[in-house]
Amino acid sequence: MERIALVTGSTNNIGKTIADVLSREDYHVIITSRNEAEAKTVSEGLPKKGSYFRVDFSQAGEIEKLFEFIKETFGRLDVLVNNVAYTKNESILDCDLSNWEYTLNTNLRSYYLCTKLAAEIMKEKGGGSIVNITVSSTRGAKDKFSYMVTKGGVNYLTMCAAIDLAPFNIRVNAVGSGLVGTPVGYREYVGRPYKNERIPVGHIGNPEDVAEAVAFIISDKAKYIVGAILSVDGVLNISL
Ligand SMILES: NC(=O)c1ccc[n+]([C@@H]2O[C@H](COP(=O)([O-])OP(=O)(O)OC[C@H]3O[C@@H](n4cnc5c(N)ncnc54)[C@H](OP(=O)(O)O)[C@@H]3O)[C@@H](O)[C@H]2O)c1
Repeated sequence: MERIALVTGSTNNIGKTIADVLSREDYHVIITSRNEAEAKTVSEGLPKKGSYFRVDFSQAGEIEKLFEFIKETFGRLDVLVNNVAYTKNESILDCDLSNWEYTLNTNLRSYYLCTKLAAEIMKEKGGGSIVNITVSSTRGAKDKFSYMVTKGGVNYLTMCAAIDLAPFNIRVNAVGSGLVGTPVGYREYVGRPYKNERIPVGHIGNPEDVAEAVAFIISDKAKYIVGAILSVDGVLNISL
């Protein structure tokens, strides 16, 4: 039986690399993006044949259509990786209601809706694995107001959903990323050694570091790991 994995926001950086690693692990991966042509291109570049679907995760109705597509096309879903996120660097004083709502809808409501809709399919098929991509940080951050609020929500969503879904053989976990790949402000490091003195290991991470952690946590090797938030950050958070 072919195993199906959905990665939300999978045309760039961490999401794209997770899709690639899961495809190499023999999953049929569904690539998602707001840009259909981009999703198709990324899907065609996967090591194993995958699929793609255009969806804006800030829109609840579009997420429902994505899950209709999954049910009709595959009739199952083995892995969901909630990865999509939007960031606007601003303080609470600059954050207006429309940015607050857009950020919450994209980064938190989509995680809730995808988790619920995925769990409904997984429950019927006997189980599955859900991973939420969050930040490794356990503290506040300057000018990251709505983004960090959503990540705090993702952490509690992970713990509560893990408890609710464990009886159905659905494991929910999170992977907390540090500075990885091409985060805002670090795009100039692409193709160069990612040196960074703030990080104890001395450099920012590669998307593969997060993707391999996801591959581990969804695997049977991690079958007793449930409700965990696995930090992948070169020891950044606890050293601050
Ligand atoms: N990079 C880091 O250093 C870092 C650190 C901590 C946590 N994280 C977390 O890791 C995850 C991935 O981050 P990243 O840096 O890889 O992000 P990224 O480079 O900005 O990529 C975001 C992806 O999401 C898609 N996307 C954005 N908004 C969307 C929407 N409304 N609907 C559908 N797709 C959407 C984008 O594709 P389209 O534009 O084509 O739609 C793109 O594929 C996020 O959850 C982030 O919070 C990252």
